[in-house]
Amino acid sequence: MNKLIVGNWKMFPTLADSQVLAASLKRGLDDLKGVDVVLAPPLPWLVNVKEIWPHKVSHISLAAQNIWPEDQGAFTGEVSAYLLKDIIRYAIVGHSERRRYNQEDNDLIGQKIQACLKWRITPIVCVGEKKRVLFADGTVDSTQWRLLEEELMEALEGISKDVLEKIVVAYEPVWAVGNNNPAKPEYAVKLIERLRVRVAEKYGQTGAQALRFLYGGSVDVAEATDYLRYPDIAGLLVGTASVKAKNFLDICRQASHFH
Ligand code: PGA
Repeated sequence: MNKLIVGNWKMFPTLADSQVLAASLKRGLDDLKGVDVVLAPPLPWLVNVKEIWPHKVSHISLAAQNIWPEDQGAFTGEVSAYLLKDIIRYAIVGHSERRRYNQEDNDLIGQKIQACLKWRITPIVCVGEKKRVLFADGTVDSTQWRLLEEELMEALEGISKDVLEKIVVAYEPVWAVGNNNPAKPEYAVKLIERLRVRVAEKYGQTGAQALRFLYGGSVDVAEATDYLRYPDIAGLLVGTASVKAKNFLDICRQASHFH
């Protein structure tokens, strides 16, 4: 299966920046085989970025950085999965910045996942501990681990085993997001393995294997391959580096070697 590389542009590029960035990415990505790429521009620029790809290219898709779970109604400032369903194929839900600045909890995030699935949008569910779980001497911070596994298991509440393949989990340790301090690949893969074991307890091995895990948190060109070479890491969620066309293309090229 192709690795999945998601570019979370956050609230960085203006409309003009987004159009220039998307045009540069188009030149580098359209003919790149062996990788699936998802771009998440700021919400108001989604349609403009979509226009850069007037014809569908199967390995390039758009994502919303967030969605609202209700379909329609009096929710000023919100945009639903239903309203976006013809524009996006993915939606990031539960990003740590939304949990922090918008007080999103596991229950709301669960509702957002259900809304995505209802409208055939693949949710990219972000989970991550605030402080390190594992230490070099083998000790485990059990409080941090409990909060992390709760984020995942509560988000999956009400999800049946056969739906797990339609969900992507982005493991993003909060302490590693946006600060040039990525988690070591060995650390990330150990936490992903632990989370998968937890999922297997509820859904069995086949269910747990169907769930794809990405790593995110300060990934840039230099370390991308170090994560991607692990079969357990299905791809990367890239933030800051995703708005630099050269860096993001380099990461996508690295990923294309692992298909
Ligand atoms: P970062 O962001 O790559 O800037 O750490 C990742 C993310 O927030 O998804």
